Amino acid sequence: MDLCIVGGGYVGLTTAVCFAELGNRVRIIDVDEEKVEKIKKGIAPIYEEGLQEMMERNMQRITAQSHFDFDESIVFICVGTPSMPDGSMDLRYVKEAAESIGKNLREGGLIVMKSTVFPGTTENIIKPIIKKHVSNFSIAMNPEFLREGKAIHDFMHPDRIVIGVEDERGEKTLRKLYEPIEAPLLVTTPSEAEMIKYASNAFLATKISFANEIGNMCKMLGMDVYKVMEGVAMDHRISPHFLNAGIGFGGSCFPKDLRALYAGGKKMGYEMEMIRAVLDVNERQPLRAVEILEKHMEVKGKTIAVLGLAFKAETDDVRESRSIPIIEALRKKGAIVRAYDPMAMDNMKKIFPDIHYCGSVEEALKEADACIIATDWKEFENIDFSGMRNKLVIEGRRVLKNKDGITYEGVCW
Ligand code: UDX
Repeated sequence: MDLCIVGGGYVGLTTAVCFAELGNRVRIIDVDEEKVEKIKKGIAPIYEEGLQEMMERNMQRITAQSHFDFDESIVFICVGTPSMPDGSMDLRYVKEAAESIGKNLREGGLIVMKSTVFPGTTENIIKPIIKKHVSNFSIAMNPEFLREGKAIHDFMHPDRIVIGVEDERGEKTLRKLYEPIEAPLLVTTPSEAEMIKYASNAFLATKISFANEIGNMCKMLGMDVYKVMEGVAMDHRISPHFLNAGIGFGGSCFPKDLRALYAGGKKMGYEMEMIRAVLDVNERQPLRAVEILEKHMEVKGKTIAVLGLAFKAETDDVRESRSIPIIEALRKKGAIVRAYDPMAMDNMKKIFPDIHYCGSVEEALKEADACIIATDWKEFENIDFSGMRNKLVIEGRRVLKNKDGITYEGVCW
């Protein structure tokens, strides 16, 4: 099939390259010229496991451009939806994309929304924009469930495919497009599909805040939340995933999507108390690392090593990383911060240009009075803490294998 993908970010690019891998011809439209030039040369503008290789294999089926001019009849919207100050989503890019698509779409085309948007957006906001330009078209919502770093794998081996459609034409086309992928396919309305995405992320985030809340209590009672959760997860009704306690969830999706859900509810006069609590626990959780530190020492003037800046391992992404509130709190309290991350330091420099960035774990730990581990990088499993002035280690993610010779505290275990 011939597809046009609007937006070449990690969702758009993954979608485009995977559909090309499945034998489709794909046109990517992105306003960012630099990104387009890279894609045209077969260079992936972002790092995703397996993306570069898959892209190279399929370049004969991939084109990219920055102007809106296309003749495909299936168009995916994969543009970003940043947050507004009240937490709701800024639909500016989605609306702009819809307007440009409408101007170019031929009669009988199908527009598929992939950007995460509040339930009702596709039918009540996107559809009327397209309708101004085209009278005969179908519209659908097809949420993505891609984890950063594992996006290619998740696209090709999803737990499920959700297609929210209004008519048979939309359903038939999307069924055919996803035919080569082995996964259960659920057909819903576009609004239900939008809600499935929000509810899934909200549930996963709830599991994390729940594990953290239980963990905080476990710490007070002197027990190990990981052992407790192991026992909890043995109940087949509770899957063992996303019950890892620590300093909470970050990244480009969970915090933003939960805030948008909460803000959307509020606008409708409905206070989603559980979502609020999940977010509140997540706000407090990283600060617990600093509170524990303060039980051991007066932080002012001390050198604190922060190991791990990325919001999770295997990525250079620092968006909503839990290390950010930790570093903010340390600096506010007058600490000298020495930071290290194998991939994310350049991105963190944009947020904190004036902390000390170190080339290795050892360098960050040198003469440090304490260390906080904030990302579960594999290279943190066996750390040599001998260079520290005072060997206090506070672990925010369960990663350390070697705790010999240190004063150790888990953030909630
Ligand atoms: C998430 C969803 O998993 C994905 O389906 C959605 O489409 C986008 O958002 P991602 O943000 O890439 O993916 O990361 P994920 O692996 O889900 O982790 C999110 C955050 O939760 C990370 O900060 C991670 O460290 C944290 N986390 C995850 C925990 O603290 N405990 C856990 O048990 C799992």
